Amino acid sequence: MDNKLFELTAKRRSIRSYTGEPIEKAVLEEIMKVALTAPCSFGHRPVEFVVVQDQDRIRELASCKSYGGNQIIGAGAVIVVMVKLDRGEFWIEDGAIASSYILLAAEQYDVGACWVHIRNRDGKRKSSDEEIRELLGVPDGYAVLNLVALGGKAETKRGYSEGDFDLNKIHYEKF
Ligand SMILES: Cc1cc2nc3c(=O)[nH]c(=O)nc-3n(C[C@H](O)[C@H](O)[C@H](O)COP(=O)(O)O)c2cc1C
Repeated sequence: MDNKLFELTAKRRSIRSYTGEPIEKAVLEEIMKVALTAPCSFGHRPVEFVVVQDQDRIRELASCKSYGGNQIIGAGAVIVVMVKLDRGEFWIEDGAIASSYILLAAEQYDVGACWVHIRNRDGKRKSSDEEIRELLGVPDGYAVLNLVALGGKAETKRGYSEGDFDLNKIHYEKF
């Protein structure tokens, strides 16, 4: 059966190496528009984003992770995914779903993307979350869940096909 969404989700892979080309403004705006459509707890839209394209600032963001941050250097844009904690119970879920939408929207435009984790990660002096909030001037009451690095693909990865997945993980009616 025709399944356009499966075609897209199967093609998406984590891309960690970028051409260094900037991302077209209109493409970036379309990707971010998709992020805003993500479902969220209580419908209160707690997820906000900082889109960073300045290469010096991207390097500063990279150094907010004591290891594993350098892969964002050379990205055309890094999306900082923050969630307002005022109705905090589902903040991780809210941020994660919006991030997934960004990953998929990027693939739609053949833009490489990768989730780079921040929650519970250490920076040089404080937690990665605190260092990033300090760097970007994020007000109190928000937490940074993750970054999504976006950029021209400088690595090629095979997309997934149906054979890569274990259909036995889907249980019907009973486990
Ligand atoms: C919650 C979460 C945290 C992740 N953290 C990182 C990370 O810090 N650095 C990284 O390079 N990839 C990270 N990833 C990407 C995964 O490593 C990647 O999605 C997984 O290996 C499957 O590969 P694929 O995305 O190509 O299908 C993360 C993904 C998720 C969902």
